[in-house]
Amino acid sequence: MRMRKHKHTEERLALCASLLPENPGENRGAWRKLFAARMEREPVGLELEIGCGKGGFILQLAERHPHVAFVAVEVCREALLLAVEKCKAADLKNVLFLCLDAATLGEIFADGEVERIYLNFSDPWPKSRHAKRRLTAPAFLALYQTLLAPGGTVRQKTDNAPLFAYSLSSFRENGWALSQVTDDLHNSPWAADNLMTEYEKTWSEKGFSIHALTAAPPRKA
Ligand SMILES: C[S@@+](CC[C@H](N)C(=O)[O-])C[C@H]1O[C@@H](n2cnc3c(N)ncnc32)[C@H](O)[C@@H]1O
Repeated sequence: MRMRKHKHTEERLALCASLLPENPGENRGAWRKLFAARMEREPVGLELEIGCGKGGFILQLAERHPHVAFVAVEVCREALLLAVEKCKAADLKNVLFLCLDAATLGEIFADGEVERIYLNFSDPWPKSRHAKRRLTAPAFLALYQTLLAPGGTVRQKTDNAPLFAYSLSSFRENGWALSQVTDDLHNSPWAADNLMTEYEKTWSEKGFSIHALTAAPPRKA
């Protein structure tokens, strides 16, 4: 996502430091404990959004599910700033943010620590020489498989038909089981429960239909 530079990004992020764990790897295997202290109860699950952008989705999700803990991951500090400020203003105790590349998530979360991963409108990386950067490339699926608890799933939404076709193949070729697959989420049986992201609003208003799927990894050997 190319974003305009904000004034005083670092100073503004510093004001939201309580939502940005400084050494996230130290919580590996202990995220629920960290959230329990914040939420004043044991969370009923831990879910990740990768590439949260400006945070509209995670804000709605966290408000809808106050007993679930959410970690929103975003590599771009400018986008992250807007997401973090929104959640701070809403005084949500069940969301934390990480500014890092999803490829490093194995250093941050223990095997089986996460119940669900959301991939919303991930960058399509259309050139084949960049295919490894797509968040549904085989190396990322292997990473998600280790992070997910038994019964855990990945949920993907995108307006980008080539990325969706690539993702369907990637999941299938790596043994994942697909469900809730649709090329028109907003006119599907799952529309009522759908929470729109910023990108989703923009592109669906321009007439693009939204593709979506849920994927469950193969059982670990
Ligand atoms: C197209 S934007 C979509 C933002 C938001 N999910 C939405 O739907 O409005 C994709 C976001 O993913 C982030 N992103 C891309 N690759 C990433 C990675 N490897 N790790 C973390 N964030 C990533 C980008 O910085 C960008 O903000």
